[in-house]
Amino acid sequence: MLLLLKKKDLASIVQNTQGFKNPKINLEQYCIDAGSVVDFAYFAGVEHDDIQNQFIFDLGAGTGRISIAAAFLGAQFVHSIDLDWDALLILKENIHHVNLCNIISPICADIATFPLYRKKKIKSTDITTLMNPPFGVQKRNADRVFLKTAFSFSKVVYSIHLTGEKTRKFISNFADKLGWTVDYIVPFNMLLERAYSFHKERVKKIDVMIYRFIKKRKR
Ligand SMILES: C[S@@+](CC[C@H](N)C(=O)[O-])C[C@H]1O[C@@H](n2cnc3c(N)ncnc32)[C@H](O)[C@@H]1O
Repeated sequence: MLLLLKKKDLASIVQNTQGFKNPKINLEQYCIDAGSVVDFAYFAGVEHDDIQNQFIFDLGAGTGRISIAAAFLGAQFVHSIDLDWDALLILKENIHHVNLCNIISPICADIATFPLYRKKKIKSTDITTLMNPPFGVQKRNADRVFLKTAFSFSKVVYSIHLTGEKTRKFISNFADKLGWTVDYIVPFNMLLERAYSFHKERVKKIDVMIYRFIKKRKR
């Protein structure tokens, strides 16, 4: 694939985007750090070639960091979905700033009920979903809802989840029941900047996993 941008240049573009102004704890709003978004996007787009010329869905897009990285890695079109209108207003400013309004389309919707009316031209074989969903800490099952929706229309799904054997088993079983399988799991550290009053440190490292899911083969 044609590599459009060096990692450090993409990280610098993402770093310069605006974050949440008044993050909402009930929606688990925090921004993925620039280094992590680049690693995430490169894993999907460069190692697996699942971004270039693809339709990308960024579920829980927030202020748009993942959407922007996907667009710079050659996505054909990015749908950035979030429940929170305030977050999408920041996303709109961010994509305007990097001149990506023609590729990234913000959509205000609840992932739990997000309806996808596929145009004839978009086959599910073309859809890659990239997401950093709520971990389900504030609202039980929030992560499951995201996975279920992503599995309903994607060809391949990349998702970030907390590390841990219990979580891994749960996610693998959940995917399995819906006809999907975990293809890869990559451990990495995400940097969480202080966003809420109960965050003690300015920046905290958290252990997470990138999951790559594909559909199970029919026997
Ligand atoms: C952990 S943040 C990730 C934000 C962004 N993707 C990033 O990585 O910087 C989770 C996002 O999911 C959104 N969200 C939470 N529940 C949602 C729901 N039911 N439907 C749509 N978006 C939701 C939040 O508003 C928030 O922007």
